[in-house]
This record gives sequence, structure tokens and C-alpha cells, in this order.
Amino acid sequence: MAQYSLVAGSVGLITLQNPPVNALSAVVRKGIVSTFERALRDPKVKSVVICGQNGVFCGGADIKEFGTNMSGPPLVPMIHAIEAADKPVVAAIEGSALGGGLELALGCHYRIAHSNARLGLPEVSLGLLPAAGGTQRLPRLIGIPAALDLITTGRHVTAAEALQLGIVDQVTDHKIVDEAVKFVLSVAGKPLDARRISTYPCPPLSDLDTVFEMVMQKVRQRAHGAIAPIACVQAVQAAATLPYAQGMEREKELMATLFTSGQARSMQYCFFAQRAVSKWSIPSGARWDTSMPRPVHKAAVIGLGTMGRGITVALAQTGLSVVAVETQEKQLMEAKQAMPGMLERGARRRGVSLTLHKITYSRDIRAVADVDLVIEAVFEDMALKKKVFQQLSDICKPGTFLCTNTSGLDVDHLASQTCNPELVVGMHFFAPAHVMKLLEVVYGPRSSPQAVATAMQLGKKMGKVSVAVGNCRGFVGNRMLKPYVEQAFFLLEEGATPEQVDGALEEFGFSMGVFKVSDLSGLDVGWRVRMADGFAEPGASSGPSARVRQGRRYSPLGDLLCEQGRFGQKTGQGWYQYDKPGGRVARSDPWLHSFLAEYRTRHGLVARRIDNQEVLERCLYALINEGFRILEDGIAAGPEDIDLIYVFGYGWPRHRGGPMFYAGMVGLTKVLQRLEHYHQAHPDVPFMQPCSLLRRLVASGSPPVHRWREVIKKVHSQL
Ligand code: NAI
Repeated sequence: MAQYSLVAGSVGLITLQNPPVNALSAVVRKGIVSTFERALRDPKVKSVVICGQNGVFCGGADIKEFGTNMSGPPLVPMIHAIEAADKPVVAAIEGSALGGGLELALGCHYRIAHSNARLGLPEVSLGLLPAAGGTQRLPRLIGIPAALDLITTGRHVTAAEALQLGIVDQVTDHKIVDEAVKFVLSVAGKPLDARRISTYPCPPLSDLDTVFEMVMQKVRQRAHGAIAPIACVQAVQAAATLPYAQGMEREKELMATLFTSGQARSMQYCFFAQRAVSKWSIPSGARWDTSMPRPVHKAAVIGLGTMGRGITVALAQTGLSVVAVETQEKQLMEAKQAMPGMLERGARRRGVSLTLHKITYSRDIRAVADVDLVIEAVFEDMALKKKVFQQLSDICKPGTFLCTNTSGLDVDHLASQTCNPELVVGMHFFAPAHVMKLLEVVYGPRSSPQAVATAMQLGKKMGKVSVAVGNCRGFVGNRMLKPYVEQAFFLLEEGATPEQVDGALEEFGFSMGVFKVSDLSGLDVGWRVRMADGFAEPGASSGPSARVRQGRRYSPLGDLLCEQGRFGQKTGQGWYQYDKPGGRVARSDPWLHSFLAEYRTRHGLVARRIDNQEVLERCLYALINEGFRILEDGIAAGPEDIDLIYVFGYGWPRHRGGPMFYAGMVGLTKVLQRLEHYHQAHPDVPFMQPCSLLRRLVASGSPPVHRWREVIKKVHSQL
């Protein structure tokens, strides 16, 4: 809808009305067309202002309309008509002008923004490109390099940056509509020819071909197989080399290709999945809309190592007072030194100015007595964590929520150390905690709905994608990682190399393969866990039973490397070699290859040629199979929860939608058949045995992923 009124005697004011973000759905487009025609017809009207209601200009296209038969007037001719008008049109931008919203504004003759506004063309993050002239007008307005940056990354800019780039003509702190009306009155009667962006030539660039070649190379590297960023470059290239009308044709063609690609569907699925997981529900019946969070004004973090520092920064960035406790003097000093830089870089990344943060440091845990919520991030050691939770339970004021950042220990066990187990939940952040978007909120059987709601709300405030998950070993993300890593080890035993396995996974779209990730996070982390679980016993890595543990196939390869002190990047050697301890650039290591050859000979294994298809199927289907088990066990509420955990926490390529969505794209029957095949070939690998939920879904005709919850519900009701 669009409301029309006459203001200041001669200005037609068109107000977009479609809460919450005034998206350009069919009725809104219809409203704009009819009110705009009315303004042009009315002889009293000398100029037009377009604005949005409730402090937002326009959030862009209505994504719900994607994939349906679009009705109503199309956007492109509508924007052309605005640009072609002989009365000046000003876009009054506040809140946001994103996607189609910014394209609409680019069709106007002038743009005025409130200082609170954010502008951008984020279509690339939905697997698309700005197809209402955005790829053709923006480069003509701000030049090719700046337009390429905005369009290929989808990044939003502040009003101040938009002014600097030349996207807007003026920025104001006053009421946007009043300013826009004042402005449009001041330009009434001025010729408009020079204000129609589509008529501009693209600002010339010397050596255009080289620029595009370099940009394309950079974009391809960053895209990890996503096609939308590449199409964005091609569209801007059309703006740089073709007349406007032909450029628009190219934009349309490229959009059509993207629109029908599976990648756009996957990315749009991720977008809607974020909404689905924020509406959480847990088996106790507690839900997002019936559980009230308690406000958190002051929080505490215990342990200022890798995670504690990041969590402290993430909390402080939301404006909370934070008490940061660390027992080791050296760690405390290092944290104090590191924190200001982390906060500064964080502010820069978020495009906000650095404000005063309220962090107090202490070596004494009693400093947390008056906080509303504590996040424990001490070593991954159950005995130590138990002690900390007992102390917290004694020290904290009544009602304080006690959270743990454990990567996989039993949250309920920690809750049982406290007087109020209902106040205990897991808040599992990912490293670096102030950057990574994922937060697993782990509820135990005794966690109260209010504790879950408070952790979810706090996560949201910190800008995280918060997913509520049940309490089990490794929760969702790390639990699924186990069979994936296990398969990677088995593939090495059978003849693959770390380079081949990582290469296949990176070609699939992961930013890093499994062995590079292992080198980055440290091989010793998993080794300690395996030792604690009785898998990796000293001396058990050689001898005839080295490859069997607890009756199942086991690969001691990781343990053997750790026994040699090869912990990955931190020691300069792991699955790869690095130029020094702490080095980041992985290089093939001939030592590792001869080590693998000797290992195979010692265990009578004959290396065979393994193709990348097998690498992918075994690693990914093992992981997906565990995902089905997690759904069956009720640890995740739905496939969307698992998918977001993998996309935001584990580098799963968003253009493949997440592991469960990907399984649906491949076809559940095929996934089942391949799992059956591999399980037959490796009967001593229980992770490869197809999960019964997968069988149930296939038997129910492989419904689309958004209907899996119905089948899962049925399974649960029969248990
Ligand atoms: P870290 O070893 O870097 O830091 C732990 C810190 O806790 C140390 O500075 C230590 O001095 C301090 N500490 C130990 N006992 C303490 C006590 N009683 N009071 C106050 N401080 C104490 O460990 P990191 O990597 O930060 O891990 C912390 C927790 O986060 C672990 O449970 C880990 O499993 C989990 N986690 C780690 C991730 C990672 O990538 N490093 C990712 C997600 C979770």
C-alpha cells in the first residue's frame, strides 16, 4: 500500500505502508504506480517525495513472492517511470533502503538520508543480483570499483558512507520528510536531465579489462562455488561496457539464470530458516512466545582464554556491564591488553563508533555476586567446571542465570552442582566468539523456560543466530562433526591424502577442509577428549588392535600425530607443515605422506585410488546421517536448526543450504542408498548405518524439508 497526500501546497507525498519494513509486495507496487500517476496528473503538484512509514524507507522486494507467479506491476518499468517524470522526485530515506528499496531510490532524482539510515544491495546473500536496475545505475552513479564492492558483497553502508560515495545527496539529523520537502522545494524548476542516472555514462576507468579480470579472480576465490557474486560482476561489467538498455537486458538474463538455480533456493531457505529457529520450542512445551526472558543488565565471564575474551567483547558490545574473572595473573594481563583492540576492530567491522565499555576485571570469583547472568569459559575439564558451578551457586545473588560455554560436556551434570538447576543452560559460542554468528543455547532437562528464553534473547542482542538445542554429547554441531572427521581419517588409511580430502571439501564450498580446520583448532583438543573417553590410550596406537576400539573401527592416525607433538598450526606441524609455530599457510608435508605409507604397510592396508565423489559422499553423508539421528532424538527441533548451525558455525556453504537441506536436494532415496552401500562395505562403522528417521522419510515419499517436522512428530508420538 502507498498513502498519498499533498503537503506544503505543491509536494505530493507518497508513503510506503507495509509493515515491518515496507517491502515492495504487489499491493505496494500497485500503490506506488497509482499514487505517482496521480501526482503527475495533479497540476497543483510540482514535485514528489517518496518515504516509508514507521521510520523505515523500504527493506526491498517481498521475498515471500519469490517463486510464485508475480502479480502486480513489475518493479523495473515502475522505477523507469519515476526516473522519466518531469517533476522532481526525492527519496526520503530513514531506517533502511535495501535491495529493491535502494533501487527505487536510485530511480528518484535526489536522495536524502537520515543519519540513522543503512543502504545496500544485499541480493547476493540470497543467491541473486539487484535486478531492478541496481547493477546498471549504481556503477553509473558511484563508479565501478565502489559499485562492485557493494553489489558483490551485499554489504550495507551507513548514511555517512553513502554520502561520501555519492549515493545520497544530503544527510540530516532532522525529521526526514520535513527535510526532503524543504529540499524538493529548493530544487523545483531546475532541469532534471542531469539527474537521471540511467543516462549517465559509467565513470571511465583505465584498463577496464584488467580491473574486471582481477575482481573476477578475487570474487571467485571468495565465492567458494557460489554463482551469484560472479553474476554480479558480469552485470556490472555490462554497465561498464554496454549502453544502458542493453545492460538492463543482460541484468535480466543473469537474474533469470540465478533465479532458477538451486543456489538461490538454498540461500532463501537459509533466510527463512533464521526466522523459523528464532521461534524456538523445546520438548518440555516451552516456546518462544510463551516464555518471558528476564532482562540482563550486568553479566560476568569466568575464564579469559580464547573464548572468554571473545564472549566478554560480544557482551560489552551490547552495552552490558561485564565482570571478567580470570585466576591466572598472566592471562588476566594479556586479556586486559587485548580487549581494547578487539573492541575497536569490532566497532569498525560493525560500522559504529567506539563507545565507552563497562568491563571490570578481577581475579576473585566473588566479584560476580551481583550480576544477572554468568558465562563460564574455563578449561574443558568437568572436575574444574563442577567446582566453578558450586562456587557460583554459593556466591551469586538469587535468580542469577548460570551458563556454560562447554563444547560438549553434560550441562545437566553441571546444573546438579547448583542449588537452582533450573537457572542453568549452555551458551555454546564459536571461536572467535565476538565474530562468529552462531550460538547454541543448550537446555537441560531441568532448565527453566525463562532461562532458555533469556539466553536466546541475549544471543539475539549480541547479533547471534541463536539455536536452542538439547543436551547430549557435543550438542548438535560437534556431535555431527565426529562421524565426518572419522570418515576423513578412514579415507587416509585407505589411500587418500589430507590434500585430496580437503580439496574435495573446499571444491564443494567449505572455506576450509577438515584437516586444515583440525590444524587450525589444534589436534590436541580432540586427542584430550579421546583420551578422557578411553579411546586414545598411550601405547594403544600401534599393535594389532590399534584400529579397533570398543568393537568398532577406529583410526589412531590423529593420536599418532599428537604423540609426535604435531598439534597443528600451534606447533608448526600437523596434517600439513607451516613455516613456523603459529604459521598460517599450510604446505604439503612429505613426512606426513611417508608416515601414511608406513602406517598402511604396518597394518596391511593397500592404498587404492579414491575419487572425490567418494570423499564427499562418505564425509557428508556420515554427517547428515547423524543429523537425522539428532532429529530423531529430539535434540534439534527441526532440520532448519541443524542447517543454520552448520552454515553459521561450521563453514557449510550457504549456497548449499545446510546439510539437511542439501540431503533433500540430492534426494533422500539416493542418500539412503549410498549410506546402505557404505555400511555394507564398512559394517564395523556404526555411523554409516542409515538412521531409521531417514528410512521413514523415504518411505513417506521423501517430503520437502519444510514438511519433515510432521514426520518427526509422528515418530516422537510413537515413542
Ligand atoms: P583457554 O584455555 O584458552 O582458556 C581457559 C581460561 O580459563 C584460562 O585463561 C584459564 O586460566 C582460565 N581459568 C581456569 N580456571 C579458572 C577459574 N577457576 N576461574 C577463572 N578462570 C579460570 O580455553 P578456551 O579455548 O577459551 O575454552 C574455554 C571453554 O570454551 C572450554 O569449555 C571449551 O571447550 C569451550 N569452547 C572452546 C572453543 C574453542 O574454539 N577454543 C569453542 C567453543 C567452546
